[in-house]
Amino acid sequence: MRKDKILVIGANGQIGSVLTQALRRSFGEDNVVASDIRDSENHPGLFETINVLDAQRIAEVVDRYHITQVYHLAAILSAKGEANPLKTWDINMSGLFNVLEVAREKRMAKVFFPSSIAVFGNDVPRYGTPQNAHLSPSTVYGMSKVAGELWSQYYFQRYGLDVRSVRYPGVVGYQSDPGGGTTDYAVEIYHYAVQEKPYQCFLKNNTPLPMIYMDDAIRGTLELMDASSDKVSVRTSYNLAGMSFTPEEITNSIRSFYPDFKVLYQPDFRQQIADSWPASIEDSQARQDWNWQPKYDLDAMTADMILHLKEKYAVSSLT
Ligand code: SER
Repeated sequence: MRKDKILVIGANGQIGSVLTQALRRSFGEDNVVASDIRDSENHPGLFETINVLDAQRIAEVVDRYHITQVYHLAAILSAKGEANPLKTWDINMSGLFNVLEVAREKRMAKVFFPSSIAVFGNDVPRYGTPQNAHLSPSTVYGMSKVAGELWSQYYFQRYGLDVRSVRYPGVVGYQSDPGGGTTDYAVEIYHYAVQEKPYQCFLKNNTPLPMIYMDDAIRGTLELMDASSDKVSVRTSYNLAGMSFTPEEITNSIRSFYPDFKVLYQPDFRQQIADSWPASIEDSQARQDWNWQPKYDLDAMTADMILHLKEKYAVSSLT
């Protein structure tokens, strides 16, 4: 077990909840403090309520547990963010500034800041979008991630703070529910399939998006955070690819388990957001710098999702 003391902010979220468990396995139960604005029933271990807008509260928790690393996952995502642009900007940016400042003042060893495929806009190559493509996002969430990437790099260059980041594709997992994102359909669709209900998809059938299976996303995050500092050549954020598929392709993959599964397409405002994002991204820099390699393709993901969700619904029907 290692000496670091870790604080996860946003630990009740889709990625935060799974990441917290993975960090506890690797660093020890007593060395990982989960925190979120909402109280948690899911975290039997150390938990503190933190509102990211409250810098003093972050500092207090950091002092109390002698925190050396922060994973800052709290943010308002792409679709939900459009309902209240200024509030989204405030939460996403002030939250990050509070974390970066506390980390700088307390001379923390490392900070993780998640970025997203939402940093890209309409004017990039849609397939195989490169690491250094022009960033002109159309959502306030994407704008906050571009600014966040630049501030992360600034804190590294100016203060030597070791901030690391990946641009997550849509993350798909059975362990937790997403909230407020444009890629959320790719999780919901499995829940409907396993319950043998038809699914109404909010994107068009032929909309390709970059996605990644949760196991790969978590492993990639931990591998980046574990890499020796001289290997981390990108201090804004690394493109991280898993797979790419359309709603129709995921439906076909699910139909090899549930041949009668029905999907209705009812695109809403999220279609426009999806249309502004890449169809797939190119991640050779992550592969080269810290040996990134995804393990799951669409069919492997489908098999694993269905296996675990069937267990989950079987258990919940018994209780
Ligand atoms: N999954 C996120 C969203 O859809 C992308 O980062 O907003």
